[in-house]
Amino acid sequence: MKKNDYFLHFLISHAKNYGFIYPSSEIYGGLNAIYDYGQYGVDLKNNIKEYWWKSMTQLHDNIVGLDSSILMHSNIWKASGHIKKFYDLLIDNKDSKKRYRPDILIKEFLLKNNYPKKEKILFRLNHLLKKNDLVGIRLLIKELNILDPKCKSNNWSDVHLFNMMFKISEKNEKDVLFLRPETAQGIFSNFSHVKQSSRMKIPFGIAQIGKSFRKEIIARQFLFRMREFEQMEMQFFIFPKEEKKWYTYWKKFRLKWHLELNLGEKNYQLQDHRQLAHYASAGTDIEFHFPFGFKELEGIHCRRDFDLKRHENFSNKKIRVFKEFQSYIPYVIETSLGVDRLFLAIFSSSLKKEKLKNGNYRIILKIPNYLSPIKAAIFPLVLKNGLPEIAKKIFNEIKIDYKLIYDKNPSIGKLYRRQDAIGTPLCFTIDYDTITTNTVTMRYRDSMKQKRIPIKKISNFIEKETGMKKILKKLSNYI
Ligand code: GAP
Repeated sequence: MKKNDYFLHFLISHAKNYGFIYPSSEIYGGLNAIYDYGQYGVDLKNNIKEYWWKSMTQLHDNIVGLDSSILMHSNIWKASGHIKKFYDLLIDNKDSKKRYRPDILIKEFLLKNNYPKKEKILFRLNHLLKKNDLVGIRLLIKELNILDPKCKSNNWSDVHLFNMMFKISEKNEKDVLFLRPETAQGIFSNFSHVKQSSRMKIPFGIAQIGKSFRKEIIARQFLFRMREFEQMEMQFFIFPKEEKKWYTYWKKFRLKWHLELNLGEKNYQLQDHRQLAHYASAGTDIEFHFPFGFKELEGIHCRRDFDLKRHENFSNKKIRVFKEFQSYIPYVIETSLGVDRLFLAIFSSSLKKEKLKNGNYRIILKIPNYLSPIKAAIFPLVLKNGLPEIAKKIFNEIKIDYKLIYDKNPSIGKLYRRQDAIGTPLCFTIDYDTITTNTVTMRYRDSMKQKRIPIKKISNFIEKETGMKKILKKLSNYI
C-alpha cells in the first residue's frame, strides 16, 4: 500500500474508532460517499461552523445570516441554470459495471503514472472539456490506454452527461422538487426580504450554513466528495464597479481565515479557475494539501448579476436596489466552503504519530484548541480518599461553560493517551496534594508538560488556552 493510501486508511479507522466519523448505514452494507458524525465529530464540526459563522456574521457588521429551506420551488433551479447546466461527465466500464468521471480518471492516471507529457495532455483535456467534446474525451482515454482501476479492463462506454441534482417527487412535472445542490440560491431568492428587513445598504453580505446534495460519482476520497454535505456560503452584494476591489478583499480575507487555523502555510495554494461554472465570470480556489494531493477546499467566485437577473426574469419581480434615483442589480462575490472538506483538512493535517522518549508511540490529534470537541478532561488519580468527589465537584462547576470529560479509569497513562487521540488540549488530575494545597496537576496535550495550578484558576485557564476569542480578535484586525 502506498504511503498516502496507508495514511488515509489509518485516518478513516481512527475517525471511526474514536467517534468522529462513521460510514452511514453500515449495518446494511453502507452507502457510497455518505457519512455520519459521531460524538466527537459533531462537536468538532459545530466548532468549525461557529468559527466561520462568527468570523462572517459577527466580525463583519455588514453581513447577516440566513437559514433557508433545502426544498425550494423548482423554478429556482430553472432560473439558476442548474436544470440545464449542472451536469457532470460520466463513463461506464462495461466489464466492472463501475462508473467514473472521465476527467478525474484521466487526471488520476497521469498522476499515478507520472506521465511524461502530463502538461500537454492536461491542456488537451481542458480544451475538450471547454468544448464539451464527449467523443474527444473518450478518444483520449482510449489513446492513453487507461484501464479500469478495479478490473483493469478498457471496455469503456461512450462519455455522457448527467444532471447532478437529486430529483424527488416526480408525479407530474409541476410538482417536481430537487434537493438543493448549493445553498446560494436560498440567499438569492431571499435577497429582497433580507435587504428590506435588515435595512442593509450595498455593499452587504448574506451568510448561510446548510446541507447540499449532489449525485457525485466519485468515491474513495472519504469526506472530500460526498453526496450529502454541508456548505458555508456567503454572497456579498456590491456596486458593479467595485467588483475587482471586493474580489481581491474576499480572496485575501478567506485565505487569512484559513491560515489562522495554523495547519501549515505550505498546505495552501490559490488556483484560478480555468474552467468557469456556468454562473461565474471569474473564480479562484483555495486548495489544501489533502492526503491525496492539493485539491479545492473553498471557492471564491464573481457571480456578477447572473443569479439576481435570472430570478428577476423568471419570477417577474423586480430584484433591484436604488442609487441616485436609478435602479440596478447588484453584482455578487461569493465565498463557498465545504464544512466536511474543512473537517477533513483539519483532521488529516492534525493527526500525528509521535515517538516518545521511552521508545513508545502516541497518536495525537493536534487540532486548534478552540475547535477541539472536548476542552479539558478531569481525572481523580485514585478512586479513594475523596479524590473522585473533588474531581466531580470541579467538573460540575466548570461544565456549565465548557465541554469537559470526567473519567475515572484507574490508569492515568491510558487516560492521557485517549485524550491525546481525540485532541483534548488540557487534562487536570486531582491527586493527594489537591487535598492539602487546593491545586491540581495540569497537562498540555502538545508538549505533555505538566504544572500545578490552583483549582480556582482552572476555568480562566481553560478560557485562555481554548477560547475562540483570541483568534476572532486577531481576525478582526484584517477587516
Ligand atoms: N455555490 C457555489 C458552489 O457550490 P462549488 O465549487 O461547487 O461552488 C463550493 O462548491 C464548495 O463546496 C467546495 O469548495 C467544497 O468545499 C464544497 N463541496 C462541493 N461539492 C462537494 C462534495 N461533493 N462533497 C463535499 N464538499 C463539497
